[in-house]
Amino acid sequence: MSTAPHDRIVVHLPAGRTKPAPDLTIATLGRPRITSPLAPLLESRRTTEHYVDEDDRVLLDDTLAGVTARGVAPADLPGLEPCGPRRQIFFDPSKTRAAIVTCGGLCPGLNDVIAGLVRNLTYHYKVRRVIGIRNGYQGFVPAYGHDVVDLTPEVVRDIAVEGGTVLGTSRGHQDPEEIVDCLERLNINILFVVGGDGSMRGAMEVVRVVRDRGLRIAVVGVPKTIDNDIPMIDQSFGFQTAFSLASDAIRAARVEAKSTANGIGLVKLMGRHSGFIACYAALARSDADVVLIPEVPFGLDGPGGLLEHLRKRVAERGHAVVVAAEGAGQELLDAPDGHDASGNRKLQDIGPFLRARIAEHFAAAGVETAIRYIDPSYAIRSVPANPYDSVYCVRLSQAAVHAAMSGRTEMVVGRWRRRFVHLPMRLAVSRRNQVDPHGDLWMAVLESTGQPARFG
Ligand code: F6P
Repeated sequence: MSTAPHDRIVVHLPAGRTKPAPDLTIATLGRPRITSPLAPLLESRRTTEHYVDEDDRVLLDDTLAGVTARGVAPADLPGLEPCGPRRQIFFDPSKTRAAIVTCGGLCPGLNDVIAGLVRNLTYHYKVRRVIGIRNGYQGFVPAYGHDVVDLTPEVVRDIAVEGGTVLGTSRGHQDPEEIVDCLERLNINILFVVGGDGSMRGAMEVVRVVRDRGLRIAVVGVPKTIDNDIPMIDQSFGFQTAFSLASDAIRAARVEAKSTANGIGLVKLMGRHSGFIACYAALARSDADVVLIPEVPFGLDGPGGLLEHLRKRVAERGHAVVVAAEGAGQELLDAPDGHDASGNRKLQDIGPFLRARIAEHFAAAGVETAIRYIDPSYAIRSVPANPYDSVYCVRLSQAAVHAAMSGRTEMVVGRWRRRFVHLPMRLAVSRRNQVDPHGDLWMAVLESTGQPARFG
């Protein structure tokens, strides 16, 4: 007997309940009344599976169960605005001034984003003035005394070959009133914020002050995080470059471990609350025997603990490699007090702790070992973007410019289900993207390493 597909859908909701959708509305400054210089390009486009018309929507859910759980007609399913040029825009390009600020920790691709924004604004929209704000939000505040820099295609031509950001960056909160004072002084119409969740929270405060003052300044974000911890974005720019380099460190640890009897390679990687870098880097070459991430607590001692597993693995294979995200195993350590300037809780250093505990364990078991500890640290994020990330940055920056010129504000650009979309800023900061211990990425890691689902 055949079963209708919908009979097989499992929706984990109490009977009669539907899954509410988040508000995906994108704020705008007003009705776009100006014909875009890109309108002729749009007229020749036809809707295909690769082109989403500006009036279409990208569905939030991509499974039958997810769609069914919404309990609404197809036309009412929650959807995101597609990125791309609009036929009508809000700002008159010849009278528009834009500013760019980069905030927070470094990430491969920042210079690509800056260059992409400048090129798209000047070449396609003919915006005449683009201003770079130095050293993050500090650059707006007179007390710091930072200058501003005029950004032209000429100035940004070769910046993407360098890592870092030509504008400089800083962490930390600055007074949104002072930021908006500065935007007014500079006659800025559009502010692009390239930064992480803290920077986007700052950008939302700027939007609030802009509204309170009755100004028409668009604030558009390009989310940045090598930890890949911003939600509703398939992958953040620079992440691929960062985990590729991290996989080189794991490869080095493997070579070192293999070259010594009972050798152990231990690699600590960035990833404060999200273990994506550790997972992807470990999967890249299947060189890791154990991956430890913040999302999956682990025990060290006793049967079923990490140390015993490691000793067995070394006995079986002659060596082993452990990869730990910096936020892993914090439950085993005394939490230090305090937060960094971005409001992130300070962490204990899991690397040296693990090295010491592994050494003790092997010594107590009478097994001679050599532990090679590698912490590539900032080396994975201070490099230029690889070509894939560069392409991604260019496309994100183009999307950000189109959104801003159309008068959209308090939003970020991102890639969701492989399509470029507009996301309300509040959604981008609503929670942290983390590796799902029940998801297929973690399952792939467990398959690749052969480690148990939990230690201890
Ligand atoms: O947020 C990205 C990140 O690279 C984290 O993985 C890391 O903990 C942190 O930044 C370190 O950056 P900084 O030393 O600049 O605060």
